[in-house]
This record gives sequence, C-alpha cells and structure tokens, in this order.
Amino acid sequence: MPTEDEISGTPHNRPPKPSPTSIGNHKLKAQTLMLGYGFDPELSEGSLKPPIFLTSTFAFENAAAGKRFFEGITGKRPGGAEGLIYSRFNGPNQEILEDRLAVWEDADDSLAFSSGMSAITTLLLTFVRPGDCVVHSGPLYAATETLIAKILGQFGVSWIDFPSGATREEIDAAIAKGKEKGRVSLIYLESPANPTNQLVDVEAVAAARDDAFADGERPPIAIDNTFLGPLWSKPLRHGADLSVYSLTKYVGGHSDLVAGGLVGKQQLINQVRTIRNTMGTIVDPNTAWMLLRSLETLELRMDRAGENARKVCEFLRDHPKVEKVGYLGFLEPGSRQADIFERHELGAGSTFSLYLKGGEKEAFAFLDALRIANLAVSLGGTETLASAPAAMTHLSVPEERKKQLDITPNLVRISIGVEDADDLIADFANALNDV
Ligand SMILES: Cc1ncc(COP(=O)(O)O)c(C=O)c1O
Repeated sequence: MPTEDEISGTPHNRPPKPSPTSIGNHKLKAQTLMLGYGFDPELSEGSLKPPIFLTSTFAFENAAAGKRFFEGITGKRPGGAEGLIYSRFNGPNQEILEDRLAVWEDADDSLAFSSGMSAITTLLLTFVRPGDCVVHSGPLYAATETLIAKILGQFGVSWIDFPSGATREEIDAAIAKGKEKGRVSLIYLESPANPTNQLVDVEAVAAARDDAFADGERPPIAIDNTFLGPLWSKPLRHGADLSVYSLTKYVGGHSDLVAGGLVGKQQLINQVRTIRNTMGTIVDPNTAWMLLRSLETLELRMDRAGENARKVCEFLRDHPKVEKVGYLGFLEPGSRQADIFERHELGAGSTFSLYLKGGEKEAFAFLDALRIANLAVSLGGTETLASAPAAMTHLSVPEERKKQLDITPNLVRISIGVEDADDLIADFANALNDV
C-alpha cells in the first residue's frame, strides 16, 4: 500500500510546478502570465507550449490514488480533485485555461464551458430550483431570456427584471417583488446590455442585495461580462460574485471557436463545477488550446480594437447621414450612465450602435456597400462585423419590445476589429455614400 507522499509524488497525474506570479515585490501583470502561467513544460517532454491532450480518460498510478481522486471529485473529501480522472470532469488544457482566465479578474477560480450558453445554463441549473424567482437586469442576450423565461419557466421558475440603467430604488423594488414571487436564488445581470449598450450599476445591485437579505440567505450576483470583459470591465471588484463569458467573442477573438467561461468566488465555482461534471458542459481540449493561444494576444487585440472604435465613432458621429452613435465613449457628462461608466469601466469597448438617418432601406444599402467590414452577427473578433439587429438577431422580438429597446430598422450594430483604422473609416465613408 503506497503512502500519502508516494501518491502525491507519483510521476503521472501530478500537478504542475507553480509558475511565478511575482518577482520579489513586483506583481506580474495578466499579459505576462498569459504566456506561461499554469503550465510546466517538464510534465510534457520539455515542450514549450502545452500539447493538446486528446484523451477521454487518465491512467491512475495505483488504485489508492484513483480512490483518492474520486473522493475529491465527489466531495467526500474537501479540496476538490487532486488529479485528472476523466475528460468530462477536466483535462490539462482546460485546467491551464481556467488558471489563466481567473487571472484577468483576480478571481479565486474559473471554469471553462463548451459555449457561452452552456456556461449560463450550468450556472442557472446550479442555483435555481422550482418555485424560485430569478431577478435580472433587462434586456439580456435573447437566448438567456429564453432560457430563464421559457425553459426554466416550464420547471416552475419565475423571473422579474429591472431596466439595465435602473436606480437603487428601482433595483430595491424589483428585489422586493421578486421575493413576493418566490425564493430569490440568483441575481443575474448583463452589462452593457445587448443590443442597447446600457450599463448596470453593479455596486448599487450589490448594496441592494446585501440590504434585502440576511446573512446566509443572500443570492449570488452573476453578470454576463462578454461585451467589455475581461479587459475593460472587472465586475467582481464592484460586488458581483461570478462573471460569465461567451469566450466565443473577445477572448477567442478570431471568430473561429465557440466557448464559455465563468470566473469568481471559490465556493460558488465549486458548486457549479459539480453540476458541470454531471452535465458534461466542459470545453473540449482542442478549443481550450485555441483559447490559450488567443489569450496570449488578448490585451493587444482589445487595445487595438478599442482605439480603432474610438477613431471610427468620432468619424461617424459627425457624418451628415448619421442620426446618432450609441458608443460608451460618448456618454453625456453628468448622466447616470456616465456615472456608472466612470465608477465601473476601464474602457469604452469596440461594439456600438450606429443609427442612420432613414430606415431599413438605408441600413441595408449601407451594409451591402461595405467592403472591409463583414456582414455577419457576433462580435469581438479580429475582423470588423456589421449587422442589422431589427432584421436579424432581434427579428422575432415583438414590435413593442423592439421600440422600448430602441431596436429600430435604421440601427446597424458594429463590432470593430484590429484592421487599420483609416482603412475602416474609408470603408464606412464609402458605404455611407451609397445610402
Ligand atoms: C452577451 C452574450 N452573452 C452570451 C452569449 C452566448 O454565447 P455563445 O454564443 O458562446 O453560446 C452571447 C452570444 O452572442 C452574447 O452576446
């Protein structure tokens, strides 16, 4: 029978040597950590880059080690899994990815998923039970609204929302109404909201939650941070407990993969991990490897896209064929949205709304004339994308709701990429000539 030391010191399935996170008192930045953190070449024949571990299962050194790993993963022993067991639970590529994702928000831990929606679904199934009420900001990404209202609705879950830009009083009122409907087990936010770009006051939501619930009964606050995270928005600093990502967008960044992520407090992550282990919503090793490669250039890509977006928006704002530009860099000084922005955000992002003078005809003429920007939905890729939400992503949203959300036929949604800014301006200028 091997001793405890022999088990933890086995050549197979052992944890990587911890990578440095500081040099003396100097704390290393996320950009530096994206190049090596969480990976020990010694465990992979000295390979500088992590290989892709295409395996469904992992060999145990001996039966006692196998038992010990299972005790960890099933929760029989605290501290989680000590080694790799089976690829539905985790794998080396996924673990390196999770270590690096957590870095951007200084989070305790992280989980990677097969899509943004599988992250959101696993999160909801972890915390929400029949009879509960989900309090959320509105609007949410359409599939998230469908999941909460239509799918969880079939299992006796109710919801109540407050507008993204809501004041503390409006948030208090929504929580109070939610409590009348059932046990409030999750507060779910999306900021900025898709497609309105309205920001949520996370600090106010956290204060409202803390005042409305006693210790031990406080529901976690989760926030979809896809649009500005992880570079321009770090909501865990403002009172959120979990940050959710469609990694398909800025983190993947090349419009060539679909994945999701969750970063946040250890105890909550552990709860979600248990459900992910059962459901199998983990990201696959190949996609995890691609995300590791993407993370190496995340800051460079987002910085460049952000700078480009500012230049393009400044050009578009003054154009005679443009009605208005909904860009977070142009918030009215002194307004509530500007106040939320200053307290919460580190950058204005690169996804914005362009309202052309006219209607659908003008929006379509503009989209059809673009030569560099691609006519496609999604965002956060290296290439610029443009689409018409009223006719595409939000086609099935009822007319009344579209009006409320300012999703008008003349709205074009643009996600700016890393091309040359002057080339993009030339493309938009040329397309506006055709309107
Ligand atoms: C804000 C937001 N959240 C979640 C998702 C869903 O992510 P995925 O498509 O990776 O499942 C999207 C996708 O567009 C999104 O824009």
